[in-house]
Amino acid sequence: MVFIVHLSDMHVGAINFREDLLSDAINRSNELNPDLVIVTGDITDNGYYHEFVDAAEYLDLIESPMLAVPGNHDSRHMGTESFEELIRKRCSTLSVRNEQIKAIGLDSSEPDLDYGKVGRSQQKRLEKLLNKTENSDLYKIIALHHHLIPVPKTGRERNVLTDAGDILMSIIDGNADLVLSGHKHVPHVWKLENTAFVTAGTVSSMKLRGKDICSFNTIDIQEESVEITLKQSDGNSKILARYENKCKVIL
Ligand SMILES: [Fe+2]
Ligand SMILES: [Fe+2]
Repeated sequence: MVFIVHLSDMHVGAINFREDLLSDAINRSNELNPDLVIVTGDITDNGYYHEFVDAAEYLDLIESPMLAVPGNHDSRHMGTESFEELIRKRCSTLSVRNEQIKAIGLDSSEPDLDYGKVGRSQQKRLEKLLNKTENSDLYKIIALHHHLIPVPKTGRERNVLTDAGDILMSIIDGNADLVLSGHKHVPHVWKLENTAFVTAGTVSSMKLRGKDICSFNTIDIQEESVEITLKQSDGNSKILARYENKCKVIL
């Protein structure tokens, strides 16, 4: 009843950026006509202004309501300013379906550094947004670039949020439904309590591991179940996770 497309790690401007794959993914996304598109950062490769100009042209092709957050690559070379000028506010929120779905964007990037941190002021804002509603049917989604839980097959962990424990606690206590991230370019789903932590692959760069190929995720939220699907650039799809939608009813 609610359909979300999750795109990540476009890396516009990278030497191995594939314009054809990004255009194809955006076309496929538009055909799916999702209620919401969430872009979890590394939109550009180096945060250069001209990369953001190009990236904004691609993002403008997305026909559904969109929420985007910056990644570590976007925050290089004063890219956070360019992000705010050309893409979105770095920490925005978006509600769709008569306020039944709320997506909360967090900026986990630090200027010119690869590691992630949300920080106490954003944590307070997050807790306020998660807890202020009396509407128990609200479906709560959080978008941030860095993963909160280590992702399998990504080697030694170096880039999990430095305040991951604190943010995880706020998310679980706030009964969030979905946390969408990117960064490692490896699609994966962890389920913890009532929250699913979903990472997406890179949609359009050849920064890949082994025989992985580019991809994006879709999230199909039905009254009784949630299904998360990997949409590969070769046209194939794989179900990453399917679980009971225990606590929420989406109208
Ligand atoms: Fe990336
Ligand atoms: Fe990243």
